[in-house]
Amino acid sequence: MRELLKKRILFFGGKGGVGKTTCASAMALVASRAGKRVLLVSTDPAHSTSDIFEKPFDRDEREIYPGLTGLELDADLEARRYVDRAKAEITRMFSPAVAKEAERQIDLAAAMPGVEEVALFDRMSDLIIDRFDAYDLLIFDTAPTGHTLRLLRMPELVASWIGALSKRRRALLSLNQDIDKVRRSPEAIDPDQDPILRTLDQRREKLEQVRARLMQHNFTGFVLVLVPERLPIEETSRAAEVLRESNVNVCGIFVNRVLPDEVEGEFYRARWAQEQVYRDEIRRRFSAYPLTWIPQLETDVYGLDNLERVSALLTR
Ligand SMILES: Nc1ncnc2c1ncn2[C@@H]1O[C@H](COP(=O)(O)OP(=O)(O)OP(=O)(O)O)[C@@H](O)[C@H]1O
Ligand SMILES: [Mg+2]
Repeated sequence: MRELLKKRILFFGGKGGVGKTTCASAMALVASRAGKRVLLVSTDPAHSTSDIFEKPFDRDEREIYPGLTGLELDADLEARRYVDRAKAEITRMFSPAVAKEAERQIDLAAAMPGVEEVALFDRMSDLIIDRFDAYDLLIFDTAPTGHTLRLLRMPELVASWIGALSKRRRALLSLNQDIDKVRRSPEAIDPDQDPILRTLDQRREKLEQVRARLMQHNFTGFVLVLVPERLPIEETSRAAEVLRESNVNVCGIFVNRVLPDEVEGEFYRARWAQEQVYRDEIRRRFSAYPLTWIPQLETDVYGLDNLERVSALLTR
């Protein structure tokens, strides 16, 4: 736990419903109580952070408690912002006729699946780069695993798109230069002065910065949350493998909703016994990672009092 508090960026990931939001929120509370300036970012469309804290989170950063700022990202809204920004950039750079056609292309692209993810990733990148110094710790509560892992692969993917776009743009510029030479026109655009290439280069630089930061093990860590059951164990194992391949540090595994040892009654004893098998399996398969065990509480975790209980369990 103390190791987690040394990080600057933490992601909480795991299968649907295992307690990602609960754990990310409890962690945010622990860190802010330890005197850190924390930004808790919810990227999950279900947005249960507001419910847990019983305070409204906003689309913009808003202080929830002293030292704890919350932010809910909405993928649809981010996609719209992203598209509007792209259009504004195009209008600035081109003549109205060209801009009109480009806008049509953007509208088409905006309707394709995946735009929300790209836009969400863009906003997270902005936070990771531009808001890094404003906080001691950024905590991302993410959507279920598959989504998040794709998100982490995004820099690679987007970088290759940008590479392809830059290449086409350069080819076009050099073609124009050749034509202009024939026509003896002085209007040829020097690739070094081209606003489009410059924008593409800036984006690539930003992506590289994000990628580097995600892979910096002393700064960034991924916490995988699971419950002691078969499917979550398998999913966690796969996720840990993918993260390792992507060179992202898995800095902890939270085993949530563990039955307390003092359970009574035949039904619970049987469940408890079954759970021991999974607990052993977790200890065996994830021995390379720091494990944190969080007991099943008798109620859902809503409201500050309950969250405090989970925070206390995290720090015991
Ligand atoms: N240790 C616990 N004891 C009791 N209830 C818990 C515990 N951890 C989480 N819960 C409850 O389980 C439910 C799911 O938790 P949570 O919303 O944190 O999961 P999630 O992984 O974020 O889900 P999703 O994938 O939908 O975002 C919530 O109702 C929460 O209050
Ligand atoms: Mg959640």
